[in-house]
Amino acid sequence: MEVRAFKWLGSHLQLLDQRELPEREVWLDLKDYRKVAEAIKNMAVRGAPAIGCVAAYGFVLGIKQGHEPTEVYRTLRETRPTAYNLFWALDRVMKALKEGGDVEGEAVKIEEEDYRANRRMGEIGKELIPKGARVLTHCNTGALATAGWGTALGIVRSAHYSGKDIFVWVDETRPFLQGSRLTAWELSKEGIPHRIITDSTAGFLMKKGLVDCVVVGADRITRDYYVANKIGTYSLSVLTKVHGIPFYVVAPTSTFDHECMGEEGIRIEERSEDEIKSIKGVRIAPSDSPALHLAFDVTPPENITAIITEEGIIKINAGGLVERIKKG
Ligand code: MRU
Repeated sequence: MEVRAFKWLGSHLQLLDQRELPEREVWLDLKDYRKVAEAIKNMAVRGAPAIGCVAAYGFVLGIKQGHEPTEVYRTLRETRPTAYNLFWALDRVMKALKEGGDVEGEAVKIEEEDYRANRRMGEIGKELIPKGARVLTHCNTGALATAGWGTALGIVRSAHYSGKDIFVWVDETRPFLQGSRLTAWELSKEGIPHRIITDSTAGFLMKKGLVDCVVVGADRITRDYYVANKIGTYSLSVLTKVHGIPFYVVAPTSTFDHECMGEEGIRIEERSEDEIKSIKGVRIAPSDSPALHLAFDVTPPENITAIITEEGIIKINAGGLVERIKKG
């Protein structure tokens, strides 16, 4: 049975509360768009494509309940600033409403399209993964972060199921632990061989020749291929460059912000320092020491080997030249 992060039931939205994983599988029933906004903010649901799908359903709930559309749109937009899929999906459902179209049907389409895009990226991307590869991944980009299957982790899945005999190094991903709590949970459920490492272990493993490629997802990709993703992604990209290891970014076209150029235009979310200074209510740092919690960083195109989308592969060579390989 495939993992799903959310289920639209027509009258309401069900969310698998990702804050409770891996200990407990708790489903939340959300009947009010403000509850959906809260769930995105507090990361009961997370991952750029999943946030987009869930926000679209939140919009549908708000409209069905007779709330002012611009207020519903604004509340959902203001939940998290970096993931472009959130804005893209909300614009789509708002447009459907303005044009007198089927708003609920549009939200369902967004979910179905994302699932199809993930399967397609898996097919395209698995060709880049050599047989027996030891793949390192960061954060969670699997079924939990999307409408199902996953982006970077979707490629891992597709490679695994095509008999490529791959192994995954799972970055723990401080401070929210999306790697050790969520990615490892997905991989264990499916029996995909893996091992969790602390984020700071990656470089040494690369130096020892134990990593064949790095695959990550994206929260926003600019027109000139700057990639915002989970904090720590940039450091990994630098490490792969030093060690001559391919660095792949996997994201659907709904993550591309064509109006944004360069890293300056990307708003990086800053979250509460308490998420760094305590884990599950247990304090692990002095309460009076300040902490900086940036949730994302930006990787420049020159550190990226290729970006895989559902439409094909965007190869970026050392001189920054881009080659687009369309896959039918
Ligand atoms: O803060 P999160 O957990 O929402 O961050 C998620 C990531 O950074 C993912 O890598 C990204 O959204 C791509 S998910 C397919």
